[in-house]
Amino acid sequence: MNFRRFARRASASPRDLARGTQSSAFLCAGLLLSSVGACRSPLDDERLEELAHDVGDQDAIPFVGGSEQLPALRQKPGSKPPSIPKAGEYGAPLAGLTAAQQQDFTDGLEEFSKEETAEGGLGPIFNHTGCFKCHSVPAIGGASAINVTRFGAVTNGVFDPLDSLGGSLLQVSAIDPAAQEVVPPEATLVAFRQSTALFGLGLIEAIEDSTILGGVKRPTVFPVQGTPAIVQDVVSGKSRVGRFGWKAQQATLLAFSGDAYVNEMGVTNRFFVAENAPNGNLQALAQFDAVADPEDQVDVATGKADIDHAADFMRLLAPPPSQLPKTADEIAGSAVFQSSGCADCHTPSMKTGKNVIAALSSKEVRLFSDLLLHDMGELGDGVVQGPASGSQMKTAPLWGLKTSAPYLHDGRALTVDLAIRAHAGQAKPSRDRYVKLKVNERAALLKFLATL
Ligand code: HEC
Ligand code: HEC
Repeated sequence: MNFRRFARRASASPRDLARGTQSSAFLCAGLLLSSVGACRSPLDDERLEELAHDVGDQDAIPFVGGSEQLPALRQKPGSKPPSIPKAGEYGAPLAGLTAAQQQDFTDGLEEFSKEETAEGGLGPIFNHTGCFKCHSVPAIGGASAINVTRFGAVTNGVFDPLDSLGGSLLQVSAIDPAAQEVVPPEATLVAFRQSTALFGLGLIEAIEDSTILGGVKRPTVFPVQGTPAIVQDVVSGKSRVGRFGWKAQQATLLAFSGDAYVNEMGVTNRFFVAENAPNGNLQALAQFDAVADPEDQVDVATGKADIDHAADFMRLLAPPPSQLPKTADEIAGSAVFQSSGCADCHTPSMKTGKNVIAALSSKEVRLFSDLLLHDMGELGDGVVQGPASGSQMKTAPLWGLKTSAPYLHDGRALTVDLAIRAHAGQAKPSRDRYVKLKVNERAALLKFLATL
């Protein structure tokens, strides 16, 4: 029997668990960034306060920075399945799916919208209880202002992820207070990473490596050559061009799904079989890890594990509903985008290769990213991850921008304008040009960006 599936359905919500009605599970207040109290590391800075948002069950992420954010969709997991947004709305499936693919999307959405429980494999340490908890704005599969924390030690310019102390990703919650992770005193660097929107990721996955590599040497307004993130894909075992995550650390959705299950929720799976030990403490791990690994098992009825369902959902999720520039301002803004060198990195569109899913095959992807790493100078988060250096970040896709505030990898920018002004390193010439634009040119550019 699939114990996790059974256990999860039969168990209480994490809210009940937190209240101690079902077990001694302990949800660190770090989940609510506005009241980080006990979980707050000594290294956290004022920014954490600024970023503070109550992400409690019933609350929408607050309206920020002139964006048109809609209230987050919330459903009671375990009751009725989440409703599926209509075509043209955020969170809808791709157009042109077969009936079987529609079903995969529906099953995937359901899995993505579930909360894990300790009895079902959550923890011992984790960041949140379900994928949808951090990917929910303006619809399930979207972004959120929830940040995760990374730490490490930098000695003579060399980054050490402090693996043996539970780095570089901090898990802010635990199923028992005794397993609670903290940023260790050895850490000299703490960085925050914001949850990104997952709309259209199937299209990004379907872009061939050669297409991304082809973007490395192309004519640009400024000298901004990017670097492909060559990673080892845990699913195929092959060397691939990474494209998911702020550092392009994963190449496929299934790999990211497995990674997120183990690192965000503490659910081990066939690609990531080992639990994270709380601050590297194997004794504490042994004490609190009661469910046999891998916790996520293939369900014989469907031939799929939870990581597969979540990957299906993301793969079949439509891109953000964007428009082509229509008004005079929007059209003028699109020209400013080119002439200011934004398109040097934010490549307006790429094409997918042939794909077994017709809805993903040979399609235009208007993502506004070259999916390459760029040296962003002081904007980089300092964390060395896979092939990315501390200052290298993946060009953030700009589609869906109007609903994904706050901006940049740590959400430091409340508006698009502030995000552009924070560009540094290879993007500095472009940023300087933006700052010197005439007021009406800048306004036109921002209007164009709001169409994406
Ligand atoms: C605690 C909040 C949190 C939870 C829970 C969470 N994520 Fe994320 N997700 C993030 C953050 C933060 C990032 C950016 C991470 C980075 O690049 O370091 C991210 C990025 C991603 C990406 C890459 C998106 C892109 O545009 O490149 C995928 C895919 C993803 N998450 C899938 C999942 C899945 C599947 C689950 C559930 C198993 C999940 N996430 C659970 C916070 C979360
Ligand atoms: C050298 C490459 C490069 C150039 C040139 C560049 N960008 Fe970026 N852009 C990036 C990278 C990399 C990020 C992600 C940085 C981070 O968050 O650390 C980013 C992030 C952004 C974001 C935030 C997106 C989000 O979801 O948080 C916006 C908005 C943006 N860029 C707009 C622009 C505009 C407009 C221009 C032209 C004036 C421009 N960029 C020029 C590389 C570039």
